[in-house]
Amino acid sequence: MTENEWGREEGFRREITPNREESLSAEAVVDDGDEAGLRPRRLDEFVGQAELKEHLGVVLDAARGREQTPDHLLFAGPPGLGKTTLAGIVAAELDVTMHVTSGPAIERAGDLAAILTNLGDRDVLFIDEIHRLPKQVEEVLYPAMEDFQLDVVLGKGPAARSIRFDLAPFTLVGATTRTGLIAGPLRDRFGLVERLDYYDSGELKLIVERAAGILSVTIDSAGAAEIADRSRGTPRIANRLLRRVRDFAEVRADGLVDVDVARNGLALFGVDELGLDKVDRSILESIAVTHGGGPVGLSTLSISVGEQPETLEDVYEPFLIQQGLIQRTPRGRVVTAATYQHLGVAVPERFIEDPSLFE
Ligand SMILES: Nc1ncnc2c1ncn2[C@@H]1O[C@H](COP(=O)(O)OP(=O)(O)OP(=O)(O)O)[C@@H](O)[C@H]1O
Ligand SMILES: [Mg+2]
Repeated sequence: MTENEWGREEGFRREITPNREESLSAEAVVDDGDEAGLRPRRLDEFVGQAELKEHLGVVLDAARGREQTPDHLLFAGPPGLGKTTLAGIVAAELDVTMHVTSGPAIERAGDLAAILTNLGDRDVLFIDEIHRLPKQVEEVLYPAMEDFQLDVVLGKGPAARSIRFDLAPFTLVGATTRTGLIAGPLRDRFGLVERLDYYDSGELKLIVERAAGILSVTIDSAGAAEIADRSRGTPRIANRLLRRVRDFAEVRADGLVDVDVARNGLALFGVDELGLDKVDRSILESIAVTHGGGPVGLSTLSISVGEQPETLEDVYEPFLIQQGLIQRTPRGRVVTAATYQHLGVAVPERFIEDPSLFE
């Protein structure tokens, strides 16, 4: 996220918190530049996630009708599917300021207290990577979410006493790539918990066409479809591939993105027909070839491809699993017949002898 990402838009102000940079996953940083301009600002501009959109629309309309804050909202799902975008949309639809922070940026209870007391009436507080909030901070958040109250403990030991402050009513919007890591008590305090799914080709094509319009890229329908199909179900990747193809079209072609330009451009940047990039392929090769099909433990795999275990689990694996190229078993990750086919590598003997290994 860039300095002016939210600042650019009227009504958005950014909350500066300590160690903010840490909050940004590598994934989120990569495409800064134009990403801010491509974010849908209103719910009706947000493509796909029909069910989520309907739920959110009802919750926001009801809150507006009652002139109250809506319940707290939690968005979960793999990186780049629109969680931060939705938080911005919630603030815009409610016409309030959004304050942005993240789990790892709030180290102490006092940091959160400072943020909470600074919120204006009905503002949105967006906590990204909320599964990484320290335990002692989470405990301060509970009464704040429930009763808009802040308990501050003064002093230590027998002399310690607790004071209560009233907070302005606010809406907490949490985002997480890992619902499983959110403690039950925290999860239960959200009135709406929504999971974002990978987008289908048609939705991604709309996203590519919308972004092409904003970026003034001339693209035809087949060109947009080609980029959409290789975007791993992820809008952020669709936007990124569009920008790389635009570069290619300007430098190696006449600027128009048709299906051939899209194909050649994506090939140049190492994106294959399924949208897999170098890291994806090295994960698959590591399991399929180096480790004879698996099972391989997460830490071994992480060393073998040179990525953090958390990045493998959050960023790469979900899509590979969804595509049926990797399966998780109690003993580790295994590949499937489709993986060998995709890699164009011969299937090892033991898989042929015992086809159940593929199941
Ligand atoms: N439904 C959508 N319609 C159009 N564009 C979208 C949609 N969802 C996401 N995008 C685009 O994808 C980009 C990434 O989305 P966003 O930053 O909201 O993802 P995220 O889920 O917060 O990812 P992370 O987990 O990495 O923080 C946005 O800049 C936006 O342009
Ligand atoms: Mg985000």
